[in-house]
Amino acid sequence: MTRSKSSQRWLKEHFADPFVKKAQAEGLRSRAAYKLEELLERDRLLKPGMVVVDLGAAPGGWSQLARRQLGDGGRVIAVDLLDMPPIAGVEFLHGDFREAESLSKLDAMLAGQAVDLVLSDMAPNMSGVGVTDQIRAMHLAELALDFVDGHLKSGGAFLIKLFMGTGFDDYVRQLRVRFGRVVIRKPEASRKRSAEVYALATAKREGPMT
Ligand SMILES: C[S@@+](CC[C@H](N)C(=O)[O-])C[C@H]1O[C@@H](n2cnc3c(N)ncnc32)[C@H](O)[C@@H]1O
Repeated sequence: MTRSKSSQRWLKEHFADPFVKKAQAEGLRSRAAYKLEELLERDRLLKPGMVVVDLGAAPGGWSQLARRQLGDGGRVIAVDLLDMPPIAGVEFLHGDFREAESLSKLDAMLAGQAVDLVLSDMAPNMSGVGVTDQIRAMHLAELALDFVDGHLKSGGAFLIKLFMGTGFDDYVRQLRVRFGRVVIRKPEASRKRSAEVYALATAKREGPMT
C-alpha cells in the first residue's frame, strides 16, 4: 500500500472512530484516554489525593482523565519529549525520559514524595523496522521500571504499554517479581492491528526487588 493510501485509510478510520468522536464531545485530547479509563476503572485505581506520574503523556488524554478522577487534591506529573499545552492541575516536565537530566528534574519535582501510581504510554517513533522498534520500546519500558523501583510506594500500581515481541515475556516476569498481581489487557479502544497491550501491575511488594 502506498503511503498516501495508508494515510488516507488512517484519516478515514480516525474520523469514523467512535472513541475519537467521544473524546471530542467530552473535551478530552485523545482517544487514548478511553484505554486508561477501561484499564483502571475495573480496579478503581485512581483515588482522590494520589500522586500519579504519567510518562509519555502528550497530547494529554491520560493526564486529563487522571486529573478529573483525583478531584482537587493529589498530583499529576506528566512527562513527554513533545511539548503539551497546559492542563489545569497537571505539572508538566518537557524532556526525554532517556536522559539523566529529565530524571533529575522529575526527582526535584517529586521532592522525596513517593508515587502511588505510575502510568507509561510511552512509545518510540516507529521506524517500521520491527526489531529496532521493539528494542527501542523495551528500552523505554526498562527505564520506566527503574523509575518504579526507585519511586513507587509499596502497595502502589504500575500500568505500562508494551509491545508483543522480543523481551516481552522477560519483562512480565520482572513485573511478577515486584508486584503481587500482574494482568495483561488489550482495551477496547486499542486498535486491533496494533501489537500493543497493557500490563497492569498492582500491590507492589516491599523493598528492593532487583
Ligand atoms: C501514544 S502517545 C501517549 C498518549 C497519551 N497517553 C494520551 O493520552 O494523550 C506516546 C507518547 O510517548 C512519548 N515518548 C516517546 N518516547 C519518549 C521519551 N523518550 N521520553 C518522553 N516521552 C516519550 C511520545 O512523544 C508520545 O507523545
